[in-house]
Amino acid sequence: MDNLFEKIKHWTRGLLLKIAKDLKTDIPKFKSVGRSKNLFSKEIKIPIYVSLIFTIIAIYGMLVIGIGISCRSLIATAILIVLSVVFFIVQIQNKEKTIIKDNDAIVLMCLLFIIAMLIFQILKEFLSPFLSPVAAFSLMAAMLLSTRIGILYAVCLSLFVTFLNDMKFEVFLMMLCSGIVVVTNVQDIRKRSDFVNIGVKTAFANVVIMTMFYFFGSYSIFQFKHNLLHGVLNGAITIVILLVCIPLFEKIFSRMTNIKLIELSDFNNPLLRRLMLEAPGTYHHSIMTADIAEQAANIVNENSLLARVGSYYHDIGKLKNPKYFIENQMTGRNLHDDLNPIISSLILTAHVKDGTVLAKKYNMDNEIINIIEQHHGTTPIHIFYHRALEISSNVNIEDFRYPGPKPTTRVSAIVMVADSCEAACRTIYEPTSVRIRNTVERIINNKFVDEQFSECSITLKDLKLIRDSIISTIMGIYHARILYK
Ligand SMILES: [Fe+2]
Ligand SMILES: [Fe+2]
Repeated sequence: MDNLFEKIKHWTRGLLLKIAKDLKTDIPKFKSVGRSKNLFSKEIKIPIYVSLIFTIIAIYGMLVIGIGISCRSLIATAILIVLSVVFFIVQIQNKEKTIIKDNDAIVLMCLLFIIAMLIFQILKEFLSPFLSPVAAFSLMAAMLLSTRIGILYAVCLSLFVTFLNDMKFEVFLMMLCSGIVVVTNVQDIRKRSDFVNIGVKTAFANVVIMTMFYFFGSYSIFQFKHNLLHGVLNGAITIVILLVCIPLFEKIFSRMTNIKLIELSDFNNPLLRRLMLEAPGTYHHSIMTADIAEQAANIVNENSLLARVGSYYHDIGKLKNPKYFIENQMTGRNLHDDLNPIISSLILTAHVKDGTVLAKKYNMDNEIINIIEQHHGTTPIHIFYHRALEISSNVNIEDFRYPGPKPTTRVSAIVMVADSCEAACRTIYEPTSVRIRNTVERIINNKFVDEQFSECSITLKDLKLIRDSIISTIMGIYHARILYK
């Protein structure tokens, strides 16, 4: 009889393992980089080389037409274009790998160049070169692509505008200065009204440069007043272009900006409201994780706002079965006590896939979706693995791992560590500083040994800084709790 019972148990275990494996292979593997959708939720797939060649030809044509077609202009423009392309490629090839692999980002990069050149041509022909909105396009590149690309835009577009306007040095200096001034302020832009500040800064930079040239004797007083007016108007044009184009490109190319992140951090957002009402434990855990991740991201010069907002949403997949997650079990009864460890592991690991599906349904951006699907990497759920080992020795730890992928960005890695540390530290009995320190160190070491950071560019130095930041934030949280008890 015992033998028969053992056989049934063995057969049931085998069946459960098979179901578990099948379910894991059913989980769709989402592309972590470069997945995006346009306004009509269709992928834009223009081969990178097609976009680049088209853009180079378009800019070359516009420059040649702008300065007048001749043998000399054809050669000079060709040299300028080659130098600009080489300069651009050298600057981004190693530093902007994510953007280089992203078709949409390349299309956006090319489109910004072409639109900017068209506007410069029109302004040059009908109004004044001093109205050319180099600052607006540099800032758009900085917000939608990266700060480095924003600075490259400021340099290249200033060169092109100068080339179109008889190589006037004052045009180059004015465009470059206003471009650099606004790009260096990109991190401070958190709401649409900040564009007004950007316009004022652009106008101010233009006025300063023009005043300098006036005192050098480059203009008469009449020309100075005239140019001054155009310099101020340039600031106003910058505001209008930013207000119109940023939301448009954010939507069409699914690009993440600080403004969009601030909008997503609003607790009235439907997903956050659902989390608050349906899974209050997870909601509280997400807010704590956000505090920890934000501080850690700041320390290693990463986008702290993305770390905060990504943390708010990282566990939205728990909305499907909130009661199966310990932080939402208010009654003290653990539903997993009655379940087979394999089933328990399946329910827990599914929250990553469920979260990704939910985020896509709510049209969340790629950066947030990547954080959701990578926040556990491929770590195993030790508690259920060990429970399964108590039942049988024939258990494979691979069956208890999250589906991954591992974090591909430093922000995802930070959220992963912050999430685990927050969850572990809340279970510490009488959380002293030594216990918190030991727990955080153990978690980071385990993840490192388990190669969870092998797909992202996080360094040992970063991990040390992140560890110290997390320890200090968590100690701050518990210190405050003890004080106000
Ligand atoms: Fe999670
Ligand atoms: Fe979590």
